Amino acid sequence: MKAAIINHYSDKVDNFEIVPNLAKPLIKKNELLIHNKSASVNPIDTLKRKGYGRIIFARKRHPEFPYILGCDAAGIITKIGDNISNFKVGDEVYYVADAFKHGTYAEYTAVEISHVYRKPCNLNFVEAASIPYVAATVWSALVGKAKMNPLQSQGKKVLVHAGSGGIGSFAIQLLKTWGCFVATTCSTQNIEFCKNLGANIVIDYTAENFSEKLVDFDIVLDTLGFRVPGTEEKSIQVLKQNKSSCYVTIVHPIMQNFDQHGLFLGLLLSIYQGYIKSFTYRPVRYEWALYKPSQAAFEHITPLIEDSKIKPVIDKILKLEEVKLAHQIIESHHTRGKVVLTI
Ligand SMILES: NC(=O)c1ccc[n+]([C@@H]2O[C@H](COP(=O)([O-])OP(=O)(O)OC[C@H]3O[C@@H](n4cnc5c(N)ncnc54)[C@H](OP(=O)(O)O)[C@@H]3O)[C@@H](O)[C@H]2O)c1
Repeated sequence: MKAAIINHYSDKVDNFEIVPNLAKPLIKKNELLIHNKSASVNPIDTLKRKGYGRIIFARKRHPEFPYILGCDAAGIITKIGDNISNFKVGDEVYYVADAFKHGTYAEYTAVEISHVYRKPCNLNFVEAASIPYVAATVWSALVGKAKMNPLQSQGKKVLVHAGSGGIGSFAIQLLKTWGCFVATTCSTQNIEFCKNLGANIVIDYTAENFSEKLVDFDIVLDTLGFRVPGTEEKSIQVLKQNKSSCYVTIVHPIMQNFDQHGLFLGLLLSIYQGYIKSFTYRPVRYEWALYKPSQAAFEHITPLIEDSKIKPVIDKILKLEEVKLAHQIIESHHTRGKVVLTI
């Protein structure tokens, strides 16, 4: 099969190679073989290309190289594991690849059944590929960590940072379907775009300080974290100072701790850092969120997409062969929505 592989980690994009003849993956009893039509490019792919999280992500990959990156994709089922009865060959699906195995920058990926969801019938493969990783991460942060209940969130005030990004553009649309009041941050060129997504307040971070404009918020979803110094402290300030408020960030040091200190010490350090932060910001709840697979998330989200209440936001469509360019674009940190590769 054709795939974009790396054979070593590198800060530059020079480590990508397009190969035409890699062996197709074999599937286990609870896995599906999916013929990928499109795969999205996520910021974590650019970090993994450089070796980020290798102490965790490379544990089950033998040998470590060649390595196929890519978190999510959309495609067609071509083989079914013996234990699977709820999908059939030919079904169109979208999914998130197992982070411990090979990813989606390839013609075929073997995927465990719990990570695979029926593709929304109104989306093409490019549009569908743009959704799964951001959708599941937003769900993990808002429902899993901030404990939001989609049926009881009417009127909740939520600040979503970087509303024009992959995560932010999805989160704004989802929160609006729950009846929330949403504020977001972006640069001048994306103000109208974020308003069109449904944001009630859009703050231009190049001209204004969001912590001076927003008060009494219930939840902050931070997609910037330590990449933009001061974001965390200022975000805590906009929250109601009580136990029902929650600051949840998806940019945190867990993986760096593992990479720098190993699994055991890295875990201890992360627990210690999390504890100090929780103590410092009390009574506000302080949470780190990670992507998690969730059937419940997609049972909720897929119908919203089919009703056009959530629309895919795609900045660029490139070919698999243009994967180096795709990574360079993502590394600019200024894409509007998602970058998707056709395979
Ligand atoms: N923990 C997890 O499991 C998990 C999962 C997914 C993603 N993440 C992380 O979450 C972060 C966001 O992911 P993403 O896919 O949304 O990234 P993205 O699509 O690359 O974000 C790009 C957007 O960020 C905006 N931006 C850049 N600087 C900003 C600033 N100072 N203030 C406000 N907006 C700013 C840009 O808007 P302008 O062009 O207007 O500046 C652009 O639209 C990444 O660091 C990613 O690694 C973590």
